[in-house]
Amino acid sequence: MDALNRIELIAPREWKTASTDLIVDDSAVEHIPVLATTLAEQINLPPDGVMVDATIGQGGHSFLFGQNLGPEGVIVGFDLDKNTIRRAQLILKALSCRVILLCANFSQITAQLNKQGIDKADFILADLGLCSAHLADVELGLSFLEDMPLDMRIDKRLKRTAADIINKADEKSLADLIYKLGQERASRRIARFIVRGRQRRPVTTTSQLSAIVCKALGQPQQKRRSKIHPATRTFQALRIAVNKELENLEKLLAAAPQLLNKNGRIAVISFHSLEDRLVKNNFKENERAGIYRIITKKPIVPSRQEIADNRRARSAKLRIAERQ
Ligand SMILES: C[S@@+](CC[C@H](N)C(=O)[O-])C[C@H]1O[C@@H](n2cnc3c(N)ncnc32)[C@H](O)[C@@H]1O
Repeated sequence: MDALNRIELIAPREWKTASTDLIVDDSAVEHIPVLATTLAEQINLPPDGVMVDATIGQGGHSFLFGQNLGPEGVIVGFDLDKNTIRRAQLILKALSCRVILLCANFSQITAQLNKQGIDKADFILADLGLCSAHLADVELGLSFLEDMPLDMRIDKRLKRTAADIINKADEKSLADLIYKLGQERASRRIARFIVRGRQRRPVTTTSQLSAIVCKALGQPQQKRRSKIHPATRTFQALRIAVNKELENLEKLLAAAPQLLNKNGRIAVISFHSLEDRLVKNNFKENERAGIYRIITKKPIVPSRQEIADNRRARSAKLRIAERQ
């Protein structure tokens, strides 16, 4: 059996029937794995180890760790996005270990692994958030720099889009959401402008929303190289809400202790303080209960050089814990 045959793609039926869909566009935006070298120094996988990559993305991290795995080793990769998962499939076919790619939410990690006959892992990795290609993907509607339909669902099976929230939520709920999930101090003013704006016409595109936020903040809409865009926090809040990002992370963190082998490790790379706080508190609670030993007393952050090479790394924080 060659390496390619060892990749199993477990995806919804509609993916499999559209055969032309299986052609992966090589021109897709390349995603550089964050903190990869640092992470590799901390994780020692045996050749027959089991790695669960909860966010396989384009497979960058998995490819790195997969090189330490022999034919008895397994990588199980989760992702919600069919395009990134297919790109991972291309990259990972060079590995000699078995690779199982699941189009599934990592919030269902235990049930999904059990379906594959796997109940323990030596390493669980979650590199949260999005791949670089997601921002450019018109279907996802995540960018305030381009004009896209205001959607934001990575998993199209989710019912509620960002436009649904923006056009239907009452002013107070909108303000609370933008404040809590975007940590935006001007949330009340932004919510007021959104409600006023949608009375004139429904907000259906990212540029419409971006213009409303900029107006509320009295800031120009153009991209400024050095500063963050005025709509960044509002867009972050919506993306987290639409994709239930914090709930998913909580479920993954809750499931991990039962899945890890003794001395197995969990590593989480987060990109904003709400996620990082969940990880920090979960690791601490599990350490107090004698379940984990925390490996990173303080989160590991990228070097200046890494940030210069990959701007997406700038807000990354890596925390690692070991199962006792
Ligand atoms: C930052 S990227 C991972 C990149 C990957 N480490 C690499 O090296 O290519 C995060 C990925 O997680 C996926 N994702 C986000 N939330 C998810 C969830 N709840 N379940 C499964 N995948 C998820 C996104 O679609 C995205 O592809």
